[in-house]
Amino acid sequence: MGVLDGRTALVTGAGRGIGAAIAEGLAAEGAIVMVSDAGVAVDGSGHDTGPAETVATAINERGGKAFPDCTDITDFAACADLINRAASTLGGFDIMVNAAGILRDGMVFKMPEQDWDSVIAVHLKGTFNLTRHASAWWRENRGGQYRLINFTSMSGLQGAPSQPNYAAAKMGIVGLTFSCANALKGYGVRSNAIAPIAGTRMTQGIKGGGSMDYSAANQRLSPANVVPPVVYLASEQSDWLNRRVIFAGNGRISLMSNPVVEREIVSSSGTWDIPTAFAEIETSFKEAVLYPNIFDKPSAS
Ligand SMILES: NC(=O)c1ccc[n+]([C@@H]2O[C@H](COP(=O)([O-])OP(=O)(O)OC[C@H]3O[C@@H](n4cnc5c(N)ncnc54)[C@H](O)[C@@H]3O)[C@@H](O)[C@H]2O)c1
Repeated sequence: MGVLDGRTALVTGAGRGIGAAIAEGLAAEGAIVMVSDAGVAVDGSGHDTGPAETVATAINERGGKAFPDCTDITDFAACADLINRAASTLGGFDIMVNAAGILRDGMVFKMPEQDWDSVIAVHLKGTFNLTRHASAWWRENRGGQYRLINFTSMSGLQGAPSQPNYAAAKMGIVGLTFSCANALKGYGVRSNAIAPIAGTRMTQGIKGGGSMDYSAANQRLSPANVVPPVVYLASEQSDWLNRRVIFAGNGRISLMSNPVVEREIVSSSGTWDIPTAFAEIETSFKEAVLYPNIFDKPSAS
């Protein structure tokens, strides 16, 4: 008996890394899974049916039930086909996990237009493509306990300096997830995002990642450690959880705060003159803003 017995799931990016661990984890808990992955390189080039087939075969050999697929998620029409095929092949369509991704890092002042467009196309447009067609299916098939689980990143939430394209796409995914949380709640859908950390080929190239050891030897950063909160979100038990970001990995599962008003100055007249605004912004906001984030370098002494 698994916590996902009878549930059906489509996982993108499921041929490698975190997506593969999620497909395996959902299947191990009893879900029937479509393992979707176009088998591209980290920069998005190429195409290979091998990774999806390998993961699906491994799940089936272990007694689970999985089907491979190699749709390119940047293709809107192909994603419509994929959702329909998933629903008929799996015998339903309860869980959508959008974990496919690529990287094309570079400083914003040097970034080629193509590197911006490719990363937005896979992460933001790709997540939209599947969400768009999945949500239409859920709307037509009301009465289920449906789950949208999208992948964001601390790179976006904290602003990785060499990943402007990726950070923008990942924050766009947060906005899409939050919008869907409000728009689709009435159709039985719960929409949340995961901000993971794991040692995969995506993190292999990270240099100067502080004390973080991204090698396969570091079990704390195993993609398997991202799986438990995803299984929880995929289960019917997570009915109460909607419109949130959860960080997962390195031994931690963290509920990230949603944006709220942190400090506020209010003019009794309803208007502000410049000198008063200068003075009150500094008095009220400065202390709150001067906190470090993970990308701050230690200040030179
Ligand atoms: N690894 C981390 O620490 C980390 C941190 C933050 C966010 N993430 C996010 O987690 C998700 C999984 O990352 P990962 O580290 O496992 O990466 P990965 O490179 O190991 O796997 C990504 C998979 O996505 C597939 N893919 C890429 N473009 C595709 C497309 N157009 N169509 C279909 N499939 C495509 C690739 O073939 C690949 O197998 C990504 O969304 C990534 O941005 C990862």
